[in-house]
Amino acid sequence: MSVLDDLLARADARSAQRLHSVRDARRTARRKLPAVVFDYVDGAADDEVTMRRNEDAFGSVAFRPRMASGLVEPRLGVTVLGKEIDFPVLLAPCGLVRLLHADGPAGVARAAASRGTVSVLSTVAGSPVEAVASESKAPLWFQLYSAAGLREADSLCDRAAAAGVDVLMVTVDTPTLGNRERDVRHGVAPPLRVDAHNAVPLGVQVLARPRWAAQLASTGIRLSSRGAGPAGHGSGLLSSVASPFSWDDVAHLRSRWEGRLVVKGVLSGADARQAVGAGADAVVVSNHGGRQLDGAPATLQALPGVVAAVGGDAEVLIDGGIRRGSHVVAALALGARAVLIGRPYLFGLASAGELGVERVLDILRAEMRRTMVLMGCPSVDQLGLDWLDVPRT
Ligand code: GLV
Repeated sequence: MSVLDDLLARADARSAQRLHSVRDARRTARRKLPAVVFDYVDGAADDEVTMRRNEDAFGSVAFRPRMASGLVEPRLGVTVLGKEIDFPVLLAPCGLVRLLHADGPAGVARAAASRGTVSVLSTVAGSPVEAVASESKAPLWFQLYSAAGLREADSLCDRAAAAGVDVLMVTVDTPTLGNRERDVRHGVAPPLRVDAHNAVPLGVQVLARPRWAAQLASTGIRLSSRGAGPAGHGSGLLSSVASPFSWDDVAHLRSRWEGRLVVKGVLSGADARQAVGAGADAVVVSNHGGRQLDGAPATLQALPGVVAAVGGDAEVLIDGGIRRGSHVVAALALGARAVLIGRPYLFGLASAGELGVERVLDILRAEMRRTMVLMGCPSVDQLGLDWLDVPRT
């Protein structure tokens, strides 16, 4: 380890220790990242109404605690798609993870494994699935986009299977990219390209964050005129996000993929039934963190309808707006088997690398455990509507 690497690692360890909530991680990420990168993660579509709705929905849940339970250690473990995880929080697929910290997607996968859960690698995370699988040696799920159609999708599936991935997640809410106005204002949207028009303001942002620039430089990442991402990874990563998959395409992928298949991005019972009809083993109730259709409902609000429609036939997961362990408990009480988090772990990664992701998972786990004890609920298996006081989501 070079002197610089050693200094950066110590700084990460100190930063991780200073995080006490997801909100802390967001604040630290904002301080450490160039504004263009922070805004790519933190921002959403149009007026960001749906992103706020996701978070606000948790504020309208009231628990119905049972006192004097004598409970000390509630059971938090669940099985998701045949995999036992230590607590019901998975790491969602996210774009450009590679740009947040030198530890990148492999660090995220290792952090998830060290905390007894699993991360889902996005097609556009910025690192190829083979590299992440071999660098991390951790269980990995893979999320699929394919702008170029089914031939490319098939080849990505084959590569994921060969790399040892056993769960494929197909995202169905991105027929075109949402209007991320913060990215547009930075002059990078899409395909997140650095050109003559934005090079100067972006250069100033990067110069203001020399530590970020130094640690990424050591990994071969560059913001180049061919787009943001690892050297040699083609132009404009986000140009390859738009994936106009149809239900027939999902059925095709199902017939080809031998492992479990998840459909991510449903918000209604009708679409969840389509997904299950096309062969999904699980669905994720998701509005892409408010990054796609602004005006879409909060995911917590959509969850009960999806559970009622397919809960007996498929596992139902949810993402969007989860910032506290108590939010995980609320989602499970409304019928989710587990949740996925996106921005919270990305903020942890930007704050302190792999250690920051571990820290965010530890925070959410501790909050979740405390919530369960205070509610007097002995096990996540027992969570249901009777633990909520008139759900007003
Ligand atoms: C990629 O999936 C994004 O939401 O930017």
